[in-house]
Amino acid sequence: MKHLISLKDWSAETIFDVLDLAVKVKAAPAQYADVLKQKTLLMIFEKPSLRTRISFEAGMTQLGGHAIYYDMSTSPMGGGKETIKDSIKVVSRMCDIVMARLFKHEDILEMAQFATIPVINALTDNSHPCQILADLLTIQEKKGSLKGLTLAYLGDGHNNVTHSLMYGCSKIGMNIRVGSPKGHMPAVEITEQCREFAKTSGTTLLITEDAAAAVHGADVVYTDSWMSYHIPKEEEAARVEIFKPYQVNSERMAHADREAIFMNCLPARRGAEQTAEVIDGKQSVVFDEAENRLHAQKAVLLKLSGMV
Ligand code: CP
Ligand code: NVA
Repeated sequence: MKHLISLKDWSAETIFDVLDLAVKVKAAPAQYADVLKQKTLLMIFEKPSLRTRISFEAGMTQLGGHAIYYDMSTSPMGGGKETIKDSIKVVSRMCDIVMARLFKHEDILEMAQFATIPVINALTDNSHPCQILADLLTIQEKKGSLKGLTLAYLGDGHNNVTHSLMYGCSKIGMNIRVGSPKGHMPAVEITEQCREFAKTSGTTLLITEDAAAAVHGADVVYTDSWMSYHIPKEEEAARVEIFKPYQVNSERMAHADREAIFMNCLPARRGAEQTAEVIDGKQSVVFDEAENRLHAQKAVLLKLSGMV
């Protein structure tokens, strides 16, 4: 395990290993307070962030290290003055780990190719693996264990979070159902890969236009923004119409298991991908989910740096 680019590249064993460490780090943070002393995490951002930036930065502080926030728009790399290849070779000489939130997935692959330090994907248009590690930690806390559970995702299927949920669930033994409108289904290549992972883990993967069928009896109901960071504002009105039938509201939640939890990686918009009564209701675990970004990523930083 050298980088965290996509959960596609991680075995179920590695994922469980990191989750086990996250549980330990969360239970006894003081035990890890000096493990990354004198280590520097470089955080490259091409898109906005609340959770990812704050949790990585606070996480490094809590582990005894330091994090640098680096805005791509004010960098020679962002301005096209310096290639990704040269930039990442330079920062590899100065820092210990690098994370990047980028538009194009090819760019993070290029970083990983030329970096001589671990690279973490902090979200691309293709995937968001850090989010899903926190999500799995949250589901495990709420449900006791992960194996055999069914997660239903409703909304934009052609989406980074959806893709990473598909990888995560199919790898570790959870069933996943994605309910999305035509034209907004998960990427075909990723779906095919996840079908193979699901076969290996003995689980099911359902991609459907039928929102009710996706949610029926599910243990976890998950949604994400209809207006991801990379979607142009002018598409908003049309997208609201397209995704409206996939909104998570009380009626939809009633079709899930009675003990089902509701998740959203945030940011969320009440009245769009879910109603206020759902996200602010008693089945919602969104703030525990957000907090777990911190604990799960501390485990990722510890593992990738080879310190634990
Ligand atoms: N969930 C998530 O990645 O949030 P941010 O965009 O605020 O980092
Ligand atoms: N799909 C969303 C996730 C935000 C954390 C986006 O890309 O904006």
